[in-house]
Amino acid sequence: MNVTEALNSRFTCRAFKSQPLEKDTILAILEAANRAPSWANTQPWEIFVAGGEDLESLRQACLENFRQGVPGNSDLPRAEEWPPHITRRVQSLMADRSQALGIDRADKAARKTLAEQNHRFFGAPVVVYLCMERSLTPWSIHDLGMMAQSIMLAAEERGVASAIAYNLVIYPDLIRKAVDIPEDLAIIIGLALGYADMAIPQNDFRSSRRSVEEVVRFQGI
Ligand SMILES: Cc1cc2nc3c(=O)[nH]c(=O)nc-3n(C[C@H](O)[C@H](O)[C@H](O)COP(=O)(O)O)c2cc1C
Repeated sequence: MNVTEALNSRFTCRAFKSQPLEKDTILAILEAANRAPSWANTQPWEIFVAGGEDLESLRQACLENFRQGVPGNSDLPRAEEWPPHITRRVQSLMADRSQALGIDRADKAARKTLAEQNHRFFGAPVVVYLCMERSLTPWSIHDLGMMAQSIMLAAEERGVASAIAYNLVIYPDLIRKAVDIPEDLAIIIGLALGYADMAIPQNDFRSSRRSVEEVVRFQGI
């Protein structure tokens, strides 16, 4: 698989098989991704990988919090508001996903079931947490973003599916306790890894993109 093929085949996997992910495979993915660039080679990422019984307990605790309506409290605050043209893209994604899954957007129970999948970590056997020191600037978050995409592409090459999700990190206190992440590290993002369950319709959905013509402006070329 070449890079373009990996870019095209990666998608946010929202249903994983329970099949475990071998430690050697996780290590091979992280070895490859560890070539990600960063500002002055600062390599600000601290990476925690959770699986097995420890992840199961965390999964149950996060799901319980969600069911009880405990508000999220991510270390990196979520945007409370988007400008209208960005909001339209979020709405369009939600509408496309609902349509693909045959779910009525007014069906609250169906929406709750979908939301719960996030808090079950999509059934993934492994979650990777990308963290960095709290004192660093948004430039380092930028570096973690490159690490995240590198992990997802290296995973893709090895037939391993991924889901990057804010919802994986909304209960940092629970994660810190389960995964032993020190207080001075901010938990920036979570990546679920594992083998995609392609029998689940959720995984057939492919999101659209703005066209390159719309996104890119050339000057002098
Ligand atoms: C920073 C970030 C946070 C995300 N959080 C969530 C999330 O909480 N739940 C979810 O289902 N998808 C989440 N996604 C996945 C996006 O919805 C997805 O990347 C986007 O719709 C494009 O679809 P694709 O990844 O399948 O190409 C997140 C993606 C990023 C980059």
